[in-house]
Amino acid sequence: MRIVSFLGVLAVAAGCRSAQKTKSGGPSPAQVPAPAPTQLPATASAATRDSVTLERERYVAEVRQEIAGKENLPASQVFKNIKVLTDVPASRLLGIMNIGFGKSLGVSCTHCHTAGEWDREEKTQKQTARDMFKMVATINNELLKNIPNLKGPNAIVNCTTCHRGQVKPALNLP
Ligand code: HEC
Ligand code: HEC
Repeated sequence: MRIVSFLGVLAVAAGCRSAQKTKSGGPSPAQVPAPAPTQLPATASAATRDSVTLERERYVAEVRQEIAGKENLPASQVFKNIKVLTDVPASRLLGIMNIGFGKSLGVSCTHCHTAGEWDREEKTQKQTARDMFKMVATINNELLKNIPNLKGPNAIVNCTTCHRGQVKPALNLP
């Protein structure tokens, strides 16, 4: 499907991240965000962001254990309730969950899921993420494609383009 081209973008983001980690053995000091000014209450401190990252990694490791031996099968064959990421290999789905969705919005897995009950639909955010996924596919495949004279040969957006590590995308520059 056409959605697949956008999936590549999410997956590339996930891949870059793990390659970077293996090389450096953790985030370099330059990547650690500076503490937020006190007058911005909603902004997470460096320590909070780190614990969210660690929590996501812990959940990914748990699911990886559960699906051991089935990592390369299509997600729809490995998991129970897959509607948009059907053809993605199971291990790549986890990369998308961690980086493409979680890191992009600056949240842990539990923003959209009840931990350990990944197939359930208790939180509205899970379906919203599917709807956002479809919106992004429409932007990339139908809207951006029809804008002439763009510089990039393959102009696209993904979750990070709007969310930039936050649940609610900004309307104004800080
Ligand atoms: C922004 C929301 C969001 C976040 C954050 C998120 N997920 Fe998901 N997750 C989804 C959606 C949406 C699906 C269903 C995808 C589909 O229908 O193709 C899903 C599906 C899954 C599934 C498949 C469950 C099944 O059996 O059907 C697993 C496992 C999973 N997520 C684990 C995680 C883990 C682990 C994290 C954190 C690293 C995480 N998710 C973060 C939205 C999210
Ligand atoms: C074109 C900009 C844009 C893109 C791209 C985008 N989003 Fe959103 N997203 C929004 C806006 C705007 C909201 C609504 C925020 C609000 O409640 O005011 C939102 C809200 C959400 C919410 C609900 C958050 C909550 O807890 O209320 C989820 C989940 C979400 N987006 C996931 C995603 C995912 C996953 C992707 C990538 C597949 C994505 N978004 C791409 C603009 C975008």
